[in-house]
Amino acid sequence: MIIQVVRIGQRLVRDDRVTTHVALVSRSFGAEKIYMTEVNPEIKDTLYKINKTWGGNFEVEFIEKWKSIVKKKKEENFKIVHLTMYGEKINDAQKELQSKDKLLIVVGAKKVPREVYELADYNIGVGSQPHSEISALAVLLDRIQNGSQFDRTFPNAERKIVPAKNGKIVKASKTRD
Ligand SMILES: C[S@@+](CC[C@H](N)C(=O)[O-])C[C@H]1O[C@@H](n2cnc3c(N)ncnc32)[C@H](O)[C@@H]1O
Repeated sequence: MIIQVVRIGQRLVRDDRVTTHVALVSRSFGAEKIYMTEVNPEIKDTLYKINKTWGGNFEVEFIEKWKSIVKKKKEENFKIVHLTMYGEKINDAQKELQSKDKLLIVVGAKKVPREVYELADYNIGVGSQPHSEISALAVLLDRIQNGSQFDRTFPNAERKIVPAKNGKIVKASKTRD
């Protein structure tokens, strides 16, 4: 399954950390790319440094208009999944979402334009209470991949963690995968 994410908007300055975390969750929970509007350009450097150290080819692309990317992805047969507390229950929709080949997941920052709800193939609520785009995205990505995202490797890492019950075991890799 190919999964990409688009984040619409940002609350200026105070949202930098949240936006970085949306990108970090996307990368580590198995999405291949994130599109972002209105962000601090340093976010791209942060994510590319993480790719260099911990592997993988996660991409960050800054876009001017969320609508163009959503329309383009629809033409490329992506299903558009908009995360919103007003949406249908994730428990009811997760099976259908698991069967799709290509998903573009849309998360907001502040109030999301009405058109997003209309362009989406699925409006999905992770519960019907307000929380956060970071938590909603993490839960959705886990539900649609059933934990399999954590069995995947990130190629060409400079460092690899060996999961351990105690302490920190990190291997420096001399060879590239
Ligand atoms: C801080 S919330 C903004 C909520 C805003 N008041 C609104 O009306 O959309 C930012 C984003 O988090 C996500 N989100 C928050 N709670 C959610 C929930 N229960 N289910 C799914 N997504 C949620 C949505 O993508 C939302 O656009």
